Amino acid sequence: MNPRKGTASALGRPWRAPRDHGGPTFTEGRGAWLVDRDGHRVIDATSGALNVLCGHGAGPVVDAYVAQLRALAHVDMSQGLARPGHLLADRLRDVRRGRGERFFFANSGSEAIELAVSVARLYRAADGGGRTDIVTFERGYHGSTALCQSLSGLPQTGRAPASGPRIHHLAFGEFTGEGQRSHRARRHIADRLRSILARSAAGTVLVEPFLNVGGGIRLPAGLLGDIRRVCDEHGALLVLDEVFTGIGRTGAWFAHEHENVRPDLTVFSKGLTNGVCALSAVAVDEHVLERLPAAGVVPYGHTMSASPAACAAAVATLDHMHATDAVAAARDIGARLLRALGRELHGTDGVLDVRGQGLAVSVELDDVGTAETVQQVAYGLGAYTRQQGATVMLAPPACLSRDEADRLADHAVTAVRKAVAAR
Ligand SMILES: Cc1ncc(COP(=O)(O)O)c(C=O)c1O
Repeated sequence: MNPRKGTASALGRPWRAPRDHGGPTFTEGRGAWLVDRDGHRVIDATSGALNVLCGHGAGPVVDAYVAQLRALAHVDMSQGLARPGHLLADRLRDVRRGRGERFFFANSGSEAIELAVSVARLYRAADGGGRTDIVTFERGYHGSTALCQSLSGLPQTGRAPASGPRIHHLAFGEFTGEGQRSHRARRHIADRLRSILARSAAGTVLVEPFLNVGGGIRLPAGLLGDIRRVCDEHGALLVLDEVFTGIGRTGAWFAHEHENVRPDLTVFSKGLTNGVCALSAVAVDEHVLERLPAAGVVPYGHTMSASPAACAAAVATLDHMHATDAVAAARDIGARLLRALGRELHGTDGVLDVRGQGLAVSVELDDVGTAETVQQVAYGLGAYTRQQGATVMLAPPACLSRDEADRLADHAVTAVRKAVAAR
């Protein structure tokens, strides 16, 4: 990654200074691999912002998308309908084992979070109008629109909303590294949630089951179930942000399945079209919809909502995932990676924690500079990783072979050792 090789084009980029063209320029993606413009091949341990679970260039998905583009790219879903939207909703109902849910579509994860918050707001209004506050994790990330940024307490996004709901943040407090998965951390967070719901106007709890941007943080075992129980005790809605964890990433179709928890609303997006185009969704339990005003509409909609081409790509992605057993592969390859990294790095100098679930395995270093060096060294060795603060995450596609997984683990271990030795 050589910043001097940046182009002088007029391109501005997300989450970067306006003229920052640092980082590699890629020209090709095939399966688990990317090729940069110098011809350097790297394993894509970012899965294209966690989107490409089936690997780059998955033929059936691309073909279905192109075929639908040729047949009918788009209709205005607020006026008329097209078959791919129906097909996708029915396929998703099967993936979610026929629970009584209805699926609403948007484009980005952020839009889908906004949509979920709108539904929650309608529900709370039908319930008497109070309890408009929302509870989220302090280190949660829910997107980049103004509302979504205000939901997060992360330093790069967290800011008090100028208007809109009051946000209460759940913090891990004194718990860091491995301690974040401890029984004591579980009790601390559940107690804090109970106290917020008892003493405030909060009626909606919006959490990630596994924190992505916050640092690849796994929740303590059992906490999601506790959160569900506390929500039930206080009549609060549980909205799960599965934008990162949904559609197979953690080795289950949805991360809440690991804990056997049933949310009221589930938001998901990454992986839904295997990176072919933007699409996000909210699954809303029928019991929530039943409480909304009968003639009322859900006040959301975007020009490209539920575009037939995007829905066709998503149907093909789900079919391809079934055909290739991608969810089981995410579970098994992810476990192999986690074992290898844990064996080599757990307790070593400079490493605070090795954690993960499915194909999202993180190494937490003891400072941001070391994590940056790990990222650079790993790239030179042939692994394109995801650095977030002091954490480096490996989130490759599920088409990674065992040999490739071992090679990726080797590169990461070597990069960590070199980065720590160079300090
Ligand atoms: C958990 C979570 N929620 C929401 C979002 C926002 O999604 P998008 O970037 O598509 O708006 C992200 C994106 O990384 C995410 O990880």
